[in-house]
Amino acid sequence: MTQATNTVRFVLDGRIIEAKGVRRTTTVLDYLREGMHRTGTKEGCAEGDCGACVVMVGELDASNKKIEYKPINSCIHLLPSLDGKSIKTVESLKKSDDTLHPMQQAMIECNGSQCGFCTPGIVMSLVNLVQLNTKPSRQEISDALSGNLCRCTGYQPIIEATHKACQNRHALKLDDSQDVQLLEQIKRPTTPTLSLHGETILQPVVRTRKGNEFVSPATIGEVADYLVQFPQSTILAGSTEIGLQVNKKFTRPEHIVFIGNVQELQQVTDTEQAWRIGAAVSLERVMNLIQNMYPDFAQVLRRFGSPPIRSTATLAGNIANGSPIGDSMPCLMALGAKLILRKGSKTREVLLDQFYTGQKQNILQKGEFIESVILPKISKDQIFKAHKISKRFEQDISATCAAILYEIKNGQLKNVRLAYNGLAPSPCRAPKIEAVLEGRSSSQVTEKDLDAAIASSFVARDGLRATWTYRALVARNLILQFIQTPQHEEASL
Ligand SMILES: Cc1cc2nc3c(=O)[nH]c(=O)nc-3n(C[C@H](O)[C@H](O)[C@H](O)COP(=O)(O)OP(=O)(O)OC[C@H]3O[C@@H](n4cnc5c(N)ncnc54)[C@H](O)[C@@H]3O)c2cc1C
Ligand code: FES
Ligand code: FES
Repeated sequence: MTQATNTVRFVLDGRIIEAKGVRRTTTVLDYLREGMHRTGTKEGCAEGDCGACVVMVGELDASNKKIEYKPINSCIHLLPSLDGKSIKTVESLKKSDDTLHPMQQAMIECNGSQCGFCTPGIVMSLVNLVQLNTKPSRQEISDALSGNLCRCTGYQPIIEATHKACQNRHALKLDDSQDVQLLEQIKRPTTPTLSLHGETILQPVVRTRKGNEFVSPATIGEVADYLVQFPQSTILAGSTEIGLQVNKKFTRPEHIVFIGNVQELQQVTDTEQAWRIGAAVSLERVMNLIQNMYPDFAQVLRRFGSPPIRSTATLAGNIANGSPIGDSMPCLMALGAKLILRKGSKTREVLLDQFYTGQKQNILQKGEFIESVILPKISKDQIFKAHKISKRFEQDISATCAAILYEIKNGQLKNVRLAYNGLAPSPCRAPKIEAVLEGRSSSQVTEKDLDAAIASSFVARDGLRATWTYRALVARNLILQFIQTPQHEEASL
């Protein structure tokens, strides 16, 4: 493998680490274990599922005085994306007087660990939780642990340990005062670097001898120009799909363009009609944003992966990835979401339901990318419902997920928009089923009509996660549930 020439800089426990000669696809986990011998962080699945590798990544907040943390699965994150950030591993928790963090101590006292393989990841997920929430409810603890698998202890002692640790509330916060200053020193630029002649120089974080690069632009303009110049590049957003391709398919993208440091792409613009969500905004942020207006959509996102997945995975990445069972798309399509696509300095707006052309195929041209997602807000007359069906409640992939938007006028369903994943090569609207619903009252909609519309809308195929018979039945029953318990009726009960 060709060697890199540049350096990745990050802060670890009061020190700036300069990782030299790393590859553009070296994972954070591999560097911690092999490069730094921080072997407390474990490798279980290497695909973001088990949580044995969870660490915390920190960035300065808007005031530049505090560090905001998020949990990540270090197995699927590429080290160059850590440039300019800080990291905390399980080894970071021990205090200078050799005492353990209250969470570690409580895990011992409550017998929260047996073989211990999962324990560092579990402790890191919980320590991350209590940085902001020192009195978590059982549900919040359970949510925080939804991406951590323990095969021997069982979760009850771990939950008890968390409650116990929180009795020592003042000792939960990590001492990161030294890291704040160091993060200032290694902060990545927020404006383009210019040459003497005024041209933008995009200095790669990593460039191999073969000339393959990992770049981390500061502005949308730089991203757009780079993609026009090197259309074969791979955009890296939250890395929850790319990381898998690197680990499991041994993919080595030629150039990687990381968009996570572009401030403009991290923006959400909130107007009366819609949210405009930048391509680098995480699903966790989207979930919090829409919670009040779209509780069903927020619930679909709460069941999307786990906190470490949602804290980095982006809405735009979910859309661009275009999996047939992608979970955000049915909700977005039913709500009439649009995409702003950009190539060079030109942008165009398209409806999401016109974006896909086949399985993992879309209308993006070479060098074009999703700049933002426009998510409309509904009026008080509109009703939105969504539900994800999967074998396990959390951290599981959909058998199908359905979402619907409609109004009730004179007792009839009007302006129906219905979308599914899991039934076709890509998530899609279902116009024939919409036609069955349009203009009828909920009691006039029959199972027979719905079954016929489902059969004529999709090609019957059994899949790994469910048979066609099951999917078709669920697709029908979800509609009946959606239209028979409209919110306005519930409210008037
Ligand atoms: C453990 C685990 C659980 C998961 N659970 C779910 C789940 O419950 N539901 C679900 O739907 N998915 C799930 N996924 C899949 C994945 O997390 C999502 O598809 C995620 O939203 C991808 O976003 P990302 O930002 O991580 O994308 P990345 O991995 O960074 O990129 C994914 C693809 O999109 C492209 N891309 C990214 N941003 C852009 C852009 N702005 N413009 C053009 N192309 C772009 C990339 O080049 C790449 O091809 C899971 C994955 C893992 C590992
Ligand atoms: S090793 Fe399993 S999530 Fe990373
Ligand atoms: S203690 Fe053994 S896997 Fe959790």
